[in-house]
Amino acid sequence: MEHSFEPLKNDLLLRAAWGQVVERPPMWVMRQAGRYLPEYHEAKGSRDFFECCRDPEVASTLTLQPVERFGGLLDAAIIFSDILVIPQAMGMHVEMVDKKGPHFPNPLKSPTDGQYQAVLERDVEVADELDYVYRAITLTRKKLAGRVPLIGFCGAPWTLFCYMVEGGGTKLFAQSKTWIYRYPEETRKLLHKIADICVEHLALQVKAGAQLVMVFDSWAGELGPSSFQKFSEPYLAHIAQKLPAKLESMGLDCVPMTVFPKGAWYALDSACDLGYNVVGMDWLQDPAAAVKVRGSRNVVFQGNADPGVLYGTKAGITEAVEQMVKGFWVGNKGWIANLGHGITPGVDPDNLKHFFEEVHRLTKS
Ligand code: CP3
Repeated sequence: MEHSFEPLKNDLLLRAAWGQVVERPPMWVMRQAGRYLPEYHEAKGSRDFFECCRDPEVASTLTLQPVERFGGLLDAAIIFSDILVIPQAMGMHVEMVDKKGPHFPNPLKSPTDGQYQAVLERDVEVADELDYVYRAITLTRKKLAGRVPLIGFCGAPWTLFCYMVEGGGTKLFAQSKTWIYRYPEETRKLLHKIADICVEHLALQVKAGAQLVMVFDSWAGELGPSSFQKFSEPYLAHIAQKLPAKLESMGLDCVPMTVFPKGAWYALDSACDLGYNVVGMDWLQDPAAAVKVRGSRNVVFQGNADPGVLYGTKAGITEAVEQMVKGFWVGNKGWIANLGHGITPGVDPDNLKHFFEEVHRLTKS
């Protein structure tokens, strides 16, 4: 059953994501609901991170915090959840360790490990397992009351695969590399399974009320051009290809899709052909050079200031915004202003406000 929500008062993000000419670039930032906000800590209290994700009331409150703080400066909300809810739905245990990040007590060790077979063969009831995400989205849409669109998301198959075999963050990627170079076929099987679950999870988020979806390939940059082509791209393309058909079969309208292959600067050209409306990029890309690579293709870019600039001065932030505007903002279309990765703890929220105000000021027509 489809929900009825209040009409959107600000649909700038959606119009820009479809490639339309707009009055100014929409703006939001990755991880805008998070630890740099004092109100985040207050609302979270002593709750565990995943407990917050599983409680629709808490998750929607956290999602709305930046919208409330920054008012008209922010053009989107992103649902408070995590990419690791998919491995959890696949039967893996994941904890969030304070100040350290995610931890899987039992990562997948090798294809002969019984757990690999179990994960591969498990029939995942996505609608049941991740029902709490959908309830959080529906509740958030109600609370937003049309102020800004709500973004849904998932992790890319390659990035989720890395977490599932590494068991957490890593610098070496020793397990991930062992899998792709020793067990390429078994790796592909798992990537395919994850990709199908991503399609279903994104479709159910749209059904619940998400108005744009984004796929985070945070570890894309750990692959090189040829391994990216083998182990990431086909699965990103699979999602972009299957999601519209899936939505249609559910009687739902298409939504814009964003892909963020972080660090894969070498793949920018092919990322523009993956079937996504929007390609996110980090600060390793030069805006003007990226626009040249895109050429006449109808793809919108999202990004890409170094999040670290927010630790600096207001003048430094202005300079970073100027560089983005100069490179990305051509013909009043094709750009969604954002950072090149998530905003980090310890940033002064006033500096983010300055970032938004400068995007506004420097793109006023
Ligand atoms: O505001 C938003 O962007 C919405 C919520 C959101 C979170 N995680 C909340 C979160 C989103 C979109 C994510 C995506 C996510 N999660 C990614 C992709 C984006 C990226 O950063 O590359 C990844 C790799 C994860 C996995 C993850 N979750 C890690 C590695 C960590 C720990 C490190 C870190 O940056 O905190 C998390 C925890 C997490 N996810 C927090 C939040 C607000 C911090 C939890 C806390 O300690 O309070």
